[in-house]
Parts: sequence; structure tokens; C-alpha cells
Amino acid sequence: MEKILLGNKILLGTCYYPEHWDESLRKDDLRRMKKHGIEAIRIAEFAWNITEPSEGVFDYSFWDRFLDLALAEDMAVIFSTPTATPPAWLSTQFPEILNARMDGTLLRHGARRHYNYNSPVYRRFASRIVEKLAGHYAPHKAIIGWQIDNEINCETDEFYSDSDTAAFREFLKEKYGSLKALNKAWGTVFWNQTYTAWAELRVPGPTVSNSVNPHQVLDYIRFVSESARGFVKMQSDIIRRHLKKGDFITTNGMFGSLDNHRMNRESLDFYTYDSYPNFAYCISEDPLFPQDRHDLNDRKWSRNLAEVRSISQERFGIMEQQSGPNGWNTRMMAPSPRPAQMSLWALQSIAHGADYVSFFRWRTAVFGTEIYWHGILDYSNRDNRRLEELGELWKKTEKLSVAGLAGSSYQAAFAIVRDYDNIWDTKLDAWHRIVEKESDAGIFRAAQLCHSPMDYLYLGDSCHPEDLPSLSLLERYPVLFYPHPAIMTAERAKLLEQYVEAGGTLVLGCRSGYKDPNGRCPMHKLPGLLQNLSGADITDFSFVAPDDGRITVDWDGTEIEAAVFNDIIEPLDGTEILAAYKNGWYAGKGALSLKRHGRGKVYYFGGAFNRDTAKVFLEKLKIAEPHRDTIEVPPGCELAVRSKGKNRYYFVLNYERKPAALNLKREFTNIYTGKKLSGTVDLPPYGVLVLQGEK
Ligand code: GAL
Repeated sequence: MEKILLGNKILLGTCYYPEHWDESLRKDDLRRMKKHGIEAIRIAEFAWNITEPSEGVFDYSFWDRFLDLALAEDMAVIFSTPTATPPAWLSTQFPEILNARMDGTLLRHGARRHYNYNSPVYRRFASRIVEKLAGHYAPHKAIIGWQIDNEINCETDEFYSDSDTAAFREFLKEKYGSLKALNKAWGTVFWNQTYTAWAELRVPGPTVSNSVNPHQVLDYIRFVSESARGFVKMQSDIIRRHLKKGDFITTNGMFGSLDNHRMNRESLDFYTYDSYPNFAYCISEDPLFPQDRHDLNDRKWSRNLAEVRSISQERFGIMEQQSGPNGWNTRMMAPSPRPAQMSLWALQSIAHGADYVSFFRWRTAVFGTEIYWHGILDYSNRDNRRLEELGELWKKTEKLSVAGLAGSSYQAAFAIVRDYDNIWDTKLDAWHRIVEKESDAGIFRAAQLCHSPMDYLYLGDSCHPEDLPSLSLLERYPVLFYPHPAIMTAERAKLLEQYVEAGGTLVLGCRSGYKDPNGRCPMHKLPGLLQNLSGADITDFSFVAPDDGRITVDWDGTEIEAAVFNDIIEPLDGTEILAAYKNGWYAGKGALSLKRHGRGKVYYFGGAFNRDTAKVFLEKLKIAEPHRDTIEVPPGCELAVRSKGKNRYYFVLNYERKPAALNLKREFTNIYTGKKLSGTVDLPPYGVLVLQGEK
């Protein structure tokens, strides 16, 4: 089988579960898939029992037969390891493999992801099944790649089994070497938490007000990440020994308490994301899926796609792309994608850099928790409008392939900087979380509305200083927003200094630089290690009090809000105060400063960046509407640009129910039709136009 996932075409796929269906359906399924443009399938990720029905008894006949059929039908296969769903015989005979709730209650068999990463018994069984599967199936010609497990850390990223406590102790011993060092790092003298023997240490447990020592929790999250990465690496090392030349290893999802960047680098060839923009329309009171219908809705998934792109910079795929109405039988009810919306979401992923898009799932399950998580086909197996839409989408992706889109890269006008220390510390820190979330959402939304394509740029985790990116990565961006890096390290501060010295513009927000890598607040002037760089001295601060209303700032005649939290800035020598607070008890005090370093600049803004404030920053820093000279796009549409060599591919995506009008200020080629286009062009509801032009 020709290798098809190497950046040489835009490929469509689906997730298929042959074990759910009668054998008589399979050939027809594969043929119908091919007829509608599906050229690859992901299989087997929950099917442990099919190969090992009881302990140590292996039967390869099911997948042997199926893979032969796939090969005969010229269908490429991504084969998965089944470790997300340990079998009942294993959960029952060895309850130590199970994950536990914080109170110690074991999670039982009956759903999925009920295992923990650290049980030596689970590691033994998991590595054996992976060894058996890879050893037997890797040479098969139908296979083009492997998926490890399924959505690492999905559904829960908390692990409280006894194996986790044992492994956490080892992790801490290695990190700190002595209890003295650990006690100091965690400030255990506070509330008499001092540890006097390693055996006293545990993963966090139930406490009054759920207020576990924050420095312990930060290390615990780091530990969860290490555990998950180690589990993936264990599998990747095994598969790699058997991998046929040219095949790849990946995993899917993108979940919390996990250094996805490191995992990708050390274990995967590229990363795949599972994109479900329909969550925006969930009928749910679940706080996980808040309903802010009027604020970008499904367009918000572009934020996640930007994050995936930062993890897997050369290329990435979508292993699961929404293809129907969704819901488990217990939660997450969402409507059917409207006509053209399923294609819009697939093209959203492609616009952001995905060269592979695989729909979840081929046919809706007729039993189990996911009977409402509809795939392309419904229970009836009849042809339907979504299948027809898939066929239409395929015609378009074929044109994109011919135009050379695969392997091209996304062009961002600026980046938001993040790092794992702060992401993980923010999980617990309610003071910081509210500030951080406001700005992350605010800058992303402003970038969308100003058609300013953006990237995320990760500065790693302080436990792995070797992960700090090179200056050249930062230098790709004329402007970096690092909204509120509470935790700052000397290495990161130095890299930022180099970026600014080389002419970059850095924008910092309130609450920067006040914590160390353990999440403690050392005795120094704020913003700590960023003081010289920013030229700002933060002499006082406050949350915006509810009775303060909107705190505003006048920036050269433009009023902006300093939302959520305010730092009061005193300028150090050579720093300009660009704007002062207009109201509040600190009216007249410094709200925005600028420090120049040669051609480089550092702005320190005393508030959080909500959408409207961020928009003003983008405008003043001249990164709003960077393509305005060539395309004028209305606010309801997203503009994304990919480029390769001298070719540029402009995607305009209409997320609205109504048509949109664009103004093309020069001549482009419509990739779907090959025709030249300029002037006013109408885009239907949920329509996507892809235009080609030269740089
Ligand atoms: C994903 C998962 C799939 C399926 C889907 C719909 O998170 O990987 O196995 O569960 O969601 O719920």
C-alpha cells in the first residue's frame, strides 16, 4: 500500500469498529467508505478481549481476517493499542490496576479508562498485549500507522490508587533527594505539614475545604504528566521495535495534566487531535460545557487547533472529527450538524494545518454508552445527507491535494506564549485562574475578529529546562503575548530578554513574575525576574472590586478596560507610562508601561486582556487584519492562511447561518473550481472558500 500520510495529500478517514458489526457488513462498509472518499480507518482501540479473551490466551484470527479484507479493498489502517479498556478478567483478578477516586474508592469495570498508569501489574499486562499486537500485526501491508491507547488523560486526569502513591514517593525522592529539600520546597512548616519519613507522603487526599498544600498539588500534576508520558513511551518503544518502515506512531486527544509537547517529541511521529466543535451547541447544564452561544461557538475550536499545531509543528492530523449529533446516554446532548456544518468543521481543521481528517465514526453504535454519539451513518445504515456531504467534501479535499496544500504550514501574525508550570499551577490557583482564563479567551477572540491568525508557543516546563525552545522559534513572531506568567524562571526570563534585544515586541499582563517554579511567592519586587525587562515596578495591586464597575484606561485617546485584576505600575528609569487608570481608588496611577530595548519593546499592562482590550492591542501593534490589503473578511468569518514555497492558501470560513460577502482586492484562484476570482464574492452559510495566490 502506498504511503499516504506523509504530507503528500489531504486524506480523509473514519473510525471503524468491525467488532461491533456482523461480518457480512464489513466488505460493503469498506467499499462505501472508499466510494465517498474515506481512504484510511482507525481500528481496535478498545478491543483487548478480541485478541486476549482470557489471561495469556492469544487469538489473532479476527484482525488477521479483517486486515486482509482491508488490504484487498485497498483501505489503509491505523491500528490501535487497546490499553484504555482493560478487560474484565484483568480488572477482577488484579484490582490494583484500577484507578481510585481521591477518597480511595476504586473505579470498577463497566466504562473505560478505569486503570492507573503506575500499577506494575498493569504495566506488565499492557506491555505484553502491545508486544503481541505489534509483533503480530506490524508487518501487515494494510497498516500505515499505530495509535497508542485512546485519549490519554481523557475523562480523568486524577489518579489516587496505591500504585500512584508509591510511584509519587519515588518521583519526589528523585526530584528532591531529601525530605529537608522537599519540606522547604513545599513550605510544609505552614500548618504543621512537615514530613519526617517518605512513607508519610501520599498523593493528595480529602482535606478540609479541599485545600491541599498547593506546592504538593503542583508536583502531583507534574507527576501525573510524567506517569502518562512514561506509559505512552513504554508502548511506543515496543511498537517502534516492530514498526514497518514508513509507518508512524501517534496518539489522539489533547487533555490536561500532560506535557503533550514532550510526549509527542519522545514517543510519537506526530500528534492527532479529536475535534468536536458541536460541544459549542450542547444542551447541558454541565459546567464543563458552558453555553455562551453568541461568542464564537464552534469557531472556538480554532483555539484548540492552534494548540495542537504547537505540539506537532511539522504536521498533525485529526483522529476524530465530529460527524453527527452527539451525546452519551448520560450527558452532552448536542444537535445535528446543519447542512454543510460537518464539512465546515473538517475544513476548519485543514485550514489550521491538519493533513488528515478522520470522522468519528462510520456508523452510529447501536448499543452502549454512545448510542447518541452519531457517526456519518445512522442506525438504519441507509445513505443519508451526511454521507452525501462527505462525498462532496472529498471532491474539495482532492482539489486541495492537487493544489499542493498538504505539507504547507499555517502562517500566524503573532503568538501567545504558554508554559506548563503556569498551566498546571493555574489549575489549582483560583486567584490566578480567573485572570489567566480571561486573557487566553480574550486574545483568541480578538484575533479571530481581527482576522489575525495566531499560534501558541510553549516554553516547556521548568523540570525539563532542556525543553526551552530556541530563540529562533520566538523570532518567527514580531509580537508575543505572554499574558500572565506568574511563575517565572531565570532561563525563561533570559530567553525573553534575547527575543526583545533582537527586536521583538513582548506584551505582559498583570500578575506576572510573582511565583517561583514551586508556586511559592518569593520576597522580591514585582514582577520579579521580569522587572529589568519590563522596566515596571508593581507597587500595589487589587482584584477589580464588584462595586468598582469597569476600570478603564485611556491609551492615546482610546479607552480600554483593565479587567479582572489591576497592577499599579511605577516606571523604573527609562520606562514610559503610556496610560493611567481613569477610575477606582488608583485613578491616575500607571496602568500601561513601555520599555524600549533597542528596536525591541516590552509593554506591561496592569489588567487582564478581555476581547475588546486585546483588539486594541492588536490594532496598535499593527497585527490586526494583516491581510487587509488583499482580502476583506466580515467579522463572522475566520481567515486562515497556509503557505508552502511561494504558494499561499487562504481559507475563509463562514460560521454563520447567513451568507457572507468578501471583498477580494486582487485576483485569486478558487481552488475548487480553478477559476479566477476578484471583487465581491458571496459565501453561503457554513461555506468555506479556499483561494490560492502567490506570496
Ligand atoms: C472521544 C473518544 C471516542 C468517543 C468520542 C465520543 O473522546 O476518543 O472514543 O468516545 O469521544 O464520545
